Amino acid sequence: MCGIAAYIGQKEAAPIILDFIKKLEYRGYDSCGIATLNGSLTYKKGTGKIDDVDQKINFLNLKGNIGIGHTRWATHGEPSDKNAHPHFSCEGNIAIVHNGIIENSEELKKILIKGGHEFRSETDTEVVVHLIEDLINEGNTMEEAFAKTLKLIQGAFAIVAMNKNEPNRLYVVKQSSPLVLGVGDNEIFVASDVLPIQLHTNKVVYLQDGDFAVVTNNDYKIKNLSEIKVNREITILSENLEEISKGDFEHFMLKEIYEQPESIKRAFKGRIDKDNAKFGGLNLNIDDIKKIKRVVLTGCGTSWHACLIGGYYIEEISKIAAQVEYASEFRYKNPVLGKDDLLIVLSQSGETADSIAAIQEAKEKGVKTIGLVNVVGSPIARMVDGGIYLHAGHEIGVASTKTFTSHLTALYLLSIYLGRINGNLSKEKAKEMLNDLENLPDKIKETFNSVEEIKKIANKYFKSKNALYLGRHYNFPVALEGALKLKEISYIHAEGYPAAEMKHGPIALIDENMPVIVIAPEDRLYSKVMSNIQEVKSRKGKVIVVTTDESKNGFDEIIKIPKVSEFLMPIISVVPVQLLAYYIAKERNCDIDKPRNLAKSVTVE
Ligand code: F6R
Repeated sequence: MCGIAAYIGQKEAAPIILDFIKKLEYRGYDSCGIATLNGSLTYKKGTGKIDDVDQKINFLNLKGNIGIGHTRWATHGEPSDKNAHPHFSCEGNIAIVHNGIIENSEELKKILIKGGHEFRSETDTEVVVHLIEDLINEGNTMEEAFAKTLKLIQGAFAIVAMNKNEPNRLYVVKQSSPLVLGVGDNEIFVASDVLPIQLHTNKVVYLQDGDFAVVTNNDYKIKNLSEIKVNREITILSENLEEISKGDFEHFMLKEIYEQPESIKRAFKGRIDKDNAKFGGLNLNIDDIKKIKRVVLTGCGTSWHACLIGGYYIEEISKIAAQVEYASEFRYKNPVLGKDDLLIVLSQSGETADSIAAIQEAKEKGVKTIGLVNVVGSPIARMVDGGIYLHAGHEIGVASTKTFTSHLTALYLLSIYLGRINGNLSKEKAKEMLNDLENLPDKIKETFNSVEEIKKIANKYFKSKNALYLGRHYNFPVALEGALKLKEISYIHAEGYPAAEMKHGPIALIDENMPVIVIAPEDRLYSKVMSNIQEVKSRKGKVIVVTTDESKNGFDEIIKIPKVSEFLMPIISVVPVQLLAYYIAKERNCDIDKPRNLAKSVTVE
């Protein structure tokens, strides 16, 4: 949440920072701002998405070779010009940008106001810049004041500060929120992730929690919060930079839906070994695996939906007890965890605060942790004991799509691997399952044949106020995911249920205005789902069925999907529900890649 960026070097800072915050816009887009130093501190900020704000105020008028920038997702204080970052000290000499939350800001603010500081925003961030100013007024240098401030604030923060009186330095800190330095020739870049940096340099330094650094154009000195010097390795990014563009697609979300045959391939490439799966970075030895009595899967949102299916895989394929937990709830229930448990954390961004807290909880209780993460080098990827990278490529659309199917692919492989090692899955069955997986990308392509039908359905139902999604077993989490996608990007209220649960309450909602999307492949529960559909039809609900069954009619609409094994069906059946949400949102003229109130990385609790 919130993207921060900074530059110090020989070039004009504003164009670089503007490009950076645009590339970080997936992290939040309710307001933005840039400040540069060129003898004096100048800044521009405004409310709205970056392109719109830039058109109004022209960020490129800001001059100077050092600057900071921010794109915001509001926590404290509504989206507004005054709450947009950067924030400034009373005398206007110091400017800061911040991503995270200062939890003790209210207490600090009271003390600062008593001391004569004047606050201009409702943000938690502003206390930081006044604290620095206060400590400088007491005789500290900027570095001392910055370091002392970090001891006074609590919470999650990535901060960049600059001081008019020190025009050749940036001050940065990382505590729970991500921050990366990019090391160029006589220039240093700072950003919330490597995405914008990688176009300028392949040398990056991932700051770790508690790191604070004084950065000049050709040097950076990193200390920890106890002010002891620390060395952080330079990571060399791989040469094959992925182009971040929509190509011929109107939205990143649509492009990412269509990328799924390829992203799934990348999730299994190099991980199939005749009759077993293989992994490079799992860091679990055979004895560890044989001892596993229970797997706990956790994540948030779409990643949590993938966990639900992963739980089914692990019980059915590996025959290990599985439990699925919302990461945001996990630590608060003081979970009973033991050394024979394994925690698997799913995350696209690798920086979701609740998922990080779940890992910390498990680690404190001595449990091994595995991360299934998309973003390489992200905080979760670095804190788990082992993991599987999804290699889905950058997911820019705020609504997650390709990561969901890549997560399922990785979980399927992992379940095969665990099942083979603990002796619960035969060679023959594993071979057959791996073969099915290799054929899956072509099956995904077949789902795209239904796109014209899906567009027609979207056109017919886009004015609906509510929608219900039903599915059973492996397709119940797909129902949840379909409802989430629709809510997120079209703002239609939608709920997902196990189809048989409908009669226990939600059936009261059904009338002729209620579209009910039923995920109903011909699996072992097919006839039961058909009965659930009849219950909807008898109450005049409109039934849209996603099915493999060629012969069925009597529904209001049918979306055909190809036949695959039951295990792989959710990877197929989710594609039409992603597309349906997309085309409904398009009919409603919604901002599909930047839905209101959302941000792609949720780095606050
Ligand atoms: C939904 C969506 C969110 C994320 C959730 C977890 O489309 O994108 O629900 O799935 O915020 O994020 P990650 O996977 O980055 O931990």
